[in-house]
Order: sequence, then structure tokens, then C-alpha cells
Amino acid sequence: MVDTLGVAVVGFGWMGRVHTQAYARVRHHYPRLAVRPEPVTVADEVPGRAEEAAAQFGFASTSRDWREVAADPRVEAVSITAPNFLHREIGVAMAEAGKHLWIEKPVGLSSEDARAVADAVAKAGVQGAVGFNYRNAPAVEAARDLIASGEIGTVTHVRFRLFSDYAAHPEGALTWRYERERGGSGVLGDLASHGADLARFLLGDIASLAADTAVFVPERARPVGATAGHSRASGGEPGPVENEDYVNCLLRFASGARGVLEACRVSVGEQNNYGFEVHGTKGAVFWDFRRMNELGVSRGTSYQDQPVSTVYVGPGAGEFGAFQPGAANAMGYDDLKVIEAHRFLRSVAEGVPHGATLADAVAAAAVLDAMVRSAADGTWVTVEGAS
Ligand SMILES: NC(=O)c1ccc[n+]([C@@H]2O[C@H](COP(=O)([O-])OP(=O)(O)OC[C@H]3O[C@@H](n4cnc5c(N)ncnc54)[C@H](O)[C@@H]3O)[C@@H](O)[C@H]2O)c1
Repeated sequence: MVDTLGVAVVGFGWMGRVHTQAYARVRHHYPRLAVRPEPVTVADEVPGRAEEAAAQFGFASTSRDWREVAADPRVEAVSITAPNFLHREIGVAMAEAGKHLWIEKPVGLSSEDARAVADAVAKAGVQGAVGFNYRNAPAVEAARDLIASGEIGTVTHVRFRLFSDYAAHPEGALTWRYERERGGSGVLGDLASHGADLARFLLGDIASLAADTAVFVPERARPVGATAGHSRASGGEPGPVENEDYVNCLLRFASGARGVLEACRVSVGEQNNYGFEVHGTKGAVFWDFRRMNELGVSRGTSYQDQPVSTVYVGPGAGEFGAFQPGAANAMGYDDLKVIEAHRFLRSVAEGVPHGATLADAVAAAAVLDAMVRSAADGTWVTVEGAS
């Protein structure tokens, strides 16, 4: 007999939908999961949005106020998929109400916010999972294993890139993402946070860094109605973009490896060009999100002119086997969220964390805070809490 677990979603935009779909699919891929998520309630401040979600996904009730979710005894676990400025307040309140939480990155506006949620989760003794989905890609897990095995030698230098055009259109609406008060940082929290998590996941702590940031689209039109995701606006009042479109950052890892992390949200011609290149003394490994199930691997003893092979990951690499029976059957972005849902629900069922936790969110946020300090001062800075 499998126990049901009452789940709620707060903020039904892009991520709210993806979390909800992941709850619906998780037992299709993980039939032995010890709990069955039951969609209890969904909250969104936009009139009608929660009702639409309930009609499509079977939530038993709806609300426009997340506080009703916190007070609802049927809710045992909650997805916090609202904008960044609400993460701290909602995250702390949900933990204090005894709800397990699956919260989207970057977890608030700063490392202070991430730490507040982490502390509340620890104090309440609930589980806290974080939406660092790219580390769930089976090929990324395979790359991590390859690096740890020493097959590419000692890691010398790495590059992480996160280029996107989602904010490149001049008519892209001035949503919460571009405001300091509601979005916090710009591309730092949005994309570089994923890069910081991937870097730590593959290579360990970043000890110090030097960053440079820029705003390339300084003004946008305010939205004239409700927005979700990356909406367009034309005819709205123009307003200033308050946070950075671009970051370029030099990294020094605690291991001694050197690296570069570059992220941009206004790169025309780039659609989800996210990936990494990890170089070692004997080989290298390459990953591109757009070819998510492949790795480029160079290994051997040639050093010079050593070929790079394409490896299609298959069952045995991370969670691949829960989705496809053989290599080169493609998995997609939403599957990474199903893996995340599984890890979250397994953490709840077993009382021990699986997957990215709030400690990872605090660590990634400390890297972003260091980038902000470095960009302001024009100097190398130490990352707080790095070992
Ligand atoms: N892991 C990833 O790959 C990934 C991708 C995109 C976004 N995100 C993160 O997910 C979060 C949400 O991003 P999104 O793209 O889904 O944004 P979005 O704008 O599409 O959705 C946010 C939703 O929250 C709702 N909302 C706003 N205020 C609310 C309130 N007070 N109470 C309830 N609902 C409220 C909005 O009406 C909207 O429906 C952000 O923190 C973002 O950084 C993560």
C-alpha cells in the first residue's frame, strides 16, 4: 500500500506547470516510489490562473493567497515556483508550517535569503529540494563520474557557458525578472546560478573569482497585463532594466583548477546554449544541453592529436534507465524535472535528502554574491563558505 502525499504548487507560471506535470508523471517512471503525490491545491495571484491549473491537473482546490496553502492541513509538500522575491517569505512560512519544500533556484534574492530558507527547513526538520535541474541530466552525472575516476587526469581548466536569447527582443516585457526588488540579480540568478551549481557539482567548491557584468538592453516596456515566462510587451510605459544582462567570470577552484563562467540572456542567435568543457592533464569532457544525452570525451594516452568521441549515454548513466531502454533515445528538459520530483519525494519518504538541497542553493548563492562584489569593486574576491 502506497501512502498519498498532499502536494501544492504556489505560482503557476512556467515552472509551476513543469513541477505539476512532474508530479503527475513521476510514478510512471518510478513505480516503486513509496509515496503517491496527490494534487491538493494551487495558488496564483493572477485571477483565473489557479482555476485553469485545477481544471487541467485535478487540484482539489485553488487560491489567490499562498498563506491559505501554508494553513492547509491537507498540504504536506509544496512547490514554490513564484518569482524570486517571494522565495524567502513563502519558503520560511511553509517550512514553519511543517511542509516539505521543492523550491526553484536561485532561492531568493541573495545568499542571505537562501540561508534563511535553509535555516527554516533545518529547524522544522522538513526536506528541502532545489530546482538545479541540469545536474540531473544523465550525461552530466556520467561526466561527473568520469572526472572523479581520474580518466581525464587532473582537472586543469574548465569553461561553463549559459547563453540565451530569451531577453534579446527589444519588446520583451519589463517583468519581475528585470527589477532589483522582485528579481534580485539578472542573468546571475537566472542562468549563472545553474552554472555555479554545475561547476560545484562537477568540480567542488569555487574558492575565489573575478567578475564583470553589463546591461545591454537598458530599457523595456512595462507589461500591460498578466505575464508568464518571457512575455512580450509593446505600447507599455518604458522603464529601466535594473539588473545585468551579462556576466563574465574568472574562477579559481579550491582544487587549484582554473575556469571561466560566462552567461548572457540577450544573445541573439543563441537558444539554450548551455554547457561545459572540462580539461584535464590526460583528456577532456564536453557537454551541450541542446544535445543533452551526449558527451564528447577525449581519453587515452596520446596527449596530442587525441581524438574526441561522441558517447550517447544510456541506462546506467544517472537516471537514464527510468526513461528510455537504450542509448540515443532522447530525453528532454521536462524529464530532468521528473528526476527532481522523484528525488524530492524520495527524500520525503525516506527522511534523508536526495538530489540538490538548500545547502547547494546557499553555496551557489554565495558564488553569485561574490560575483556581485567583484563586479562592483573590480577585484578578485573570496567566495564565502568555500572550503
Ligand atoms: N530550474 C529552471 O530551469 C528554471 C527555469 C525558469 C524559471 N525558474 C525559476 O522559477 C521561478 C519562477 O519562474 P517562472 O519562469 O515560472 O516565472 P513565471 O513568471 O512564468 O511564473 C511565476 C508565477 O508566479 C505567480 N505569482 C506571482 N506572485 C505571486 C504570489 N504572491 N502568489 C502566488 N503566485 C504568484 C505569477 O502570477 C506567475 O504565474 C523563478 O524563481 C525562476 O528563477 C527556474
